[in-house]
Amino acid sequence: MNRRDFIKILSVGAMAMYVSGCGATAAVKPDGQNDPVDEQSTIVSGGSTMNIVVINSSPHSEAQSTSRYLAQRFIDGASTKGHNIFVFDAANEDTHPCKGCDHCHMDGDCIFNDAIQTKLMPKMLEADLLVLVTPLYYYGMSAQLKTIVDRFYSRTTRLNGKRSMMIATAWNSADWTMEALQNHYETLVRYMDWTDVGQVWATGCGTRSMVERSEFGDAAYNIGANL
Ligand SMILES: Cc1cc2nc3c(=O)[nH]c(=O)nc-3n(C[C@H](O)[C@H](O)[C@H](O)COP(=O)(O)O)c2cc1C
Repeated sequence: MNRRDFIKILSVGAMAMYVSGCGATAAVKPDGQNDPVDEQSTIVSGGSTMNIVVINSSPHSEAQSTSRYLAQRFIDGASTKGHNIFVFDAANEDTHPCKGCDHCHMDGDCIFNDAIQTKLMPKMLEADLLVLVTPLYYYGMSAQLKTIVDRFYSRTTRLNGKRSMMIATAWNSADWTMEALQNHYETLVRYMDWTDVGQVWATGCGTRSMVERSEFGDAAYNIGANL
C-alpha cells in the first residue's frame, strides 16, 4: 500500500468515497453502483444541518499542531454547509481517565464532574457526527483522545448509531504507519454501531509545514464540504 492509499476519506456505511492525489472523486451509491460524482453533489447528511463534535487531542498549539490544522480544514469545509460545529480541546480541558468503578452502570453520571461530563458529553449526546482527531503516538491514538474514548463508557448505548470520522497525523510515511490505529478506529466504529463518513490518515506529516504542503488538507476540507 502506498502513501496515497492512506487518504481514503469515505469508506464504510451507505456510501464510500476516495480522493486520489490528483483530486478525482468517485462515490459508491447506497445501491452499490459505482458512480462518478461531482464533489458538491455527494451528500452524507441528506442535506439537513448536522450537529458535529470535533475532538482535538494534540498538546501542540493551534499554530503548531498538524492534526489541529487538518481538523480546521475539515471545519472550514463543513462550515460551507452551515452545520453546527462544537470543538472540544481534550489536551487543555480538565479531563480524567475512567476508573472503571462502574458508578455510571454504562448509562449515568460519571464520578468525575469534569469537562468531559459537563461540556463534551451533552454535545456528544446530541451530535450527529463525532470527529476524532489525534497525532499518532506510538502507533495509537494520543492518551488525551483515549481518555475521552474510555469515558464513552458512561453513555455507551446512547452514543450508538452516530456518524463518525477520524483524522490522524504522523511523522512516519511507511505504508504500515496507521495500520494499528485504523484497526482500532474501525473496531470502535463496529462496536459503537457508528457509520464512518471519512478517514484522513496523514502520514509523512510530522510538522506544520509538512502537513500544509500535503494533499491531506484538501482531503479533510472535502469531507466537510461534502457532508
Ligand atoms: C509522544 C510522541 C509519540 C509519537 N509517536 C509516533 C509514532 O509512533 N509514529 C509516527 O510516525 N510519529 C509519531 N510521533 C510524531 C507525531 O505523530 C507527529 O509529529 C504529528 O504530526 C504530531 O501532531 P500534532 O502536531 O497535531 O500533535 C510521535 C510524537 C510524539 C510527541
